[in-house]
Amino acid sequence: MKALKIAIVGCGFIAQKHIETLNRLSDSFEIQALVDHDTLKLENAKQLLADQEGVLLYQDYNDMLNTEDIDIVLITTPSFLHGQMALDAIEAGKHVMVEKPLALSSKEIALISEGALKKSKKVLVCHQMRYRPLFRKLKNLTRNEQILGKPLMASASILINRPKSYYDQAAWKGTWLYDGGMLINQGLHVIDLLIWLFGDLDWIYGKSVNCTPWKETDDVALGMMKFNNGAVGNLAATIQTKPHNIGYRLDLIYSHATFSISGNALNQLDHFFIENQPFTSSKLDALVNDLDDRYYMYQDFYQSLTDDRHQSVIDLQGAKKVIDVINGFYQSDQANQILKFS
Ligand SMILES: NC(=O)c1ccc[n+]([C@@H]2O[C@H](COP(=O)([O-])OP(=O)(O)OC[C@H]3O[C@@H](n4cnc5c(N)ncnc54)[C@H](O)[C@@H]3O)[C@@H](O)[C@H]2O)c1
Repeated sequence: MKALKIAIVGCGFIAQKHIETLNRLSDSFEIQALVDHDTLKLENAKQLLADQEGVLLYQDYNDMLNTEDIDIVLITTPSFLHGQMALDAIEAGKHVMVEKPLALSSKEIALISEGALKKSKKVLVCHQMRYRPLFRKLKNLTRNEQILGKPLMASASILINRPKSYYDQAAWKGTWLYDGGMLINQGLHVIDLLIWLFGDLDWIYGKSVNCTPWKETDDVALGMMKFNNGAVGNLAATIQTKPHNIGYRLDLIYSHATFSISGNALNQLDHFFIENQPFTSSKLDALVNDLDDRYYMYQDFYQSLTDDRHQSVIDLQGAKKVIDVINGFYQSDQANQILKFS
């Protein structure tokens, strides 16, 4: 088994989680380089590596891109940098793993897709929740309308607390241009699961409000939507719950089945019912309690890079959909009218 050489660009909060996972996958991946313009962040990240020997440190990612010996660039910088950095990495002949969001605009996403095709490079976007065994089980079930019946209604909520101190951590957080809005930053995983599991949207109508003078982006967002399969849905999001998070919630209602998942990390199964299909609670507990999604995501990416026949769980088209839906929500809000997708 050949270990693929990976460079991490952006050594902040989320990069630490990636390093923890990569340390457990040393047969498949070798961290070859770390990049951050902040030398303290570089040093802190280096300390987390299981094997620090020979790791290259860069302050400018262009210098790293000129290094031959790197197979994959992992982009964990602020959201507004993802698109350009992904494009540059593809252009330099590297495969790319990029934190969510893939990019902030559909235009950048189209360029990334074009570039990846032209250079035969793979891009995986970190929608890691899709790798949770519970959500993979639900995805498999949704492929069979005979089991679940007709999709009727879906509801997603993001009820969390993000105080001023959260936005003070980095200048890009809470700005429209660099962060992209609450639904991109805090809502993306739940909205991604909603459309991945329940289907593509026909239209969306959104309203959002900013209640905080110390940042630009929204605090409260409410949306209504219609799916192409005829079902309807809603979305409620806020970063204003006091004094702490209530959590996330996803309710999926079909004519023969109902699923309800909640919790601070969507780690609680409140309801799992399919007509005439008994599931033992121990089987369900095993699915719900397995939260090792990032590990499974890396395994999937390794397979897609080493076996051309392997189709990874997240493709670029799938990652684009959630950005289109969220940008559609904000466009609808601004225009005060329904945004049609087709
Ligand atoms: N998948 C998830 O669940 C999840 C969770 C948290 C964050 N994220 C995403 O990860 C990204 C980073 O978030 P974070 O919380 O780690 O941010 P952060 O601010 O903690 O880290 C970003 C790092 O990038 C570095 N950086 C900025 N510009 C750079 C440049 N030009 N070259 C090199 N390094 C540069 C910063 O110095 C910092 O160390 C965001 O896009 C966010 O949406 C995803």
